[in-house]
Amino acid sequence: MSGGIYMIDDISPIVFDLGSYSFRAGYGGQETPYFDVPSHVGVREVIERTIDETVDGGKPRKEYFIDTNMINVPRENTEIVSYLKNGMIEDWDIFEQMWDYIITRCLGCDTKEHPMLFSEPPWNQRDKREKIMELAFEKYNMPASYLMKNAVLALFSGGRSSGLVLDSGATHTSAIPIHDGYVLTPSVVTQPIGGDTIVEQCKHALEKQNIEIVPNYKIAHKHEVNENQKPKWTKKTNLPEVSESFEDFAVKRVVEDFAHSTLQLCDTPIDPDFMDKLPAASYAFPCGLRKDILSERAKVPEGLFDLKYLRGENVKQQYQMNVTDIAATACGMCDNEIRTQMYSNVYVVGGNSLIMGFPERLNHELALRCPASVKLRVTWAPPPVERRFGAWIGGSIVSCQPSFYQYWVTKADYDETGKSIVEKRCA
Ligand SMILES: Nc1ncnc2c1ncn2[C@@H]1O[C@H](COP(=O)(O)OP(=O)(O)OP(=O)(O)O)[C@@H](O)[C@H]1O
Ligand SMILES: [Mg+2]
Repeated sequence: MSGGIYMIDDISPIVFDLGSYSFRAGYGGQETPYFDVPSHVGVREVIERTIDETVDGGKPRKEYFIDTNMINVPRENTEIVSYLKNGMIEDWDIFEQMWDYIITRCLGCDTKEHPMLFSEPPWNQRDKREKIMELAFEKYNMPASYLMKNAVLALFSGGRSSGLVLDSGATHTSAIPIHDGYVLTPSVVTQPIGGDTIVEQCKHALEKQNIEIVPNYKIAHKHEVNENQKPKWTKKTNLPEVSESFEDFAVKRVVEDFAHSTLQLCDTPIDPDFMDKLPAASYAFPCGLRKDILSERAKVPEGLFDLKYLRGENVKQQYQMNVTDIAATACGMCDNEIRTQMYSNVYVVGGNSLIMGFPERLNHELALRCPASVKLRVTWAPPPVERRFGAWIGGSIVSCQPSFYQYWVTKADYDETGKSIVEKRCA
């Protein structure tokens, strides 16, 4: 079936880019997403009293706490959960709460008037793709929609349609070979190493130095002290008893900030000389402790490129490939001709690649792995927002191009074929 052409003159498409760390949303044609909402949600089960409680003892109902301001408030009986698993939507009830929130509270738009472009991981499953289409057309009454692989969009944002996208996010790092805008699915390599690994490693390093990580929500007052003094802070009174998942989430946010502010990768495999010369990064923890971070700055992220630097129990079972292995394996799984093209067009994206020195280090390591006859070229967008929001930005560009009009799946197309149209029309 040929696609109906959907013309959009004055109406901007909405672009959604869903990740395990955050859900990015905004209008096509804009430079960056207007909204970047954490992908974790607070969920509290409340029992509603019925008139005759002897019958069913009250009906359970769920309350949801979405977005930074709501999720960071300590509450009793509230779990912090993610609705994603392996980058795919797993809990549709929570996802729908989030999607409703973004559409009504953030964008505040009438979905009947806007087509939407939704990003998806390269390994997304058919039933999940169909469900997104179904929601778009049947719940939100969108006039047109389209699903596109996030890596393809990220590559478009770099002005290319062929190349190897190396995407290092929160939960995983993937290498996705793309040829003429299509993902070469059998050669995609993904591993659970990324920003969450860095958080675990930082926690380990801080614990070893006896630094207690006190989350912001507990602190009423603090005085700045240096590392030879005991932290001086007072705890807020009347704090509710929070769940373990809330506490973990609050601690994780502190550690993430620590990681973003201090870590730096060495351009080449780490050596004692580099560590000695590395200037200290001074970091002030929320409890007021100010500390100079020295060699740990480089040792912690080194684990991304050399697994033997990873600390903790079960790391050997948890991590099988480092970031270079991921990229080189994906290239190695491509045909000869394509392999050359991939090595010559490696494009680095994802929030975890913002660790200082990450792309440069990948360049160094891949140069040792790629065939001598091949010209290696590793590129990345220097502005951090472009690297973190690469997929969203690609969607913003593509969705406004007149040449894209022919690709939209319209409401009429959906009504004629049903949700299975996504498999036929969205590559
Ligand atoms: N400036 C920074 N320096 C280092 N790491 C950063 C920085 N900013 C964000 N990060 C990390 O990047 C990760 C989020 O990256 P990204 O937004 O690409 O993930 P995602 O697409 O939501 O998740 P995933 O790809 O795992 O589904 C987090 O682990 C975050 O801590
Ligand atoms: Mg991602």
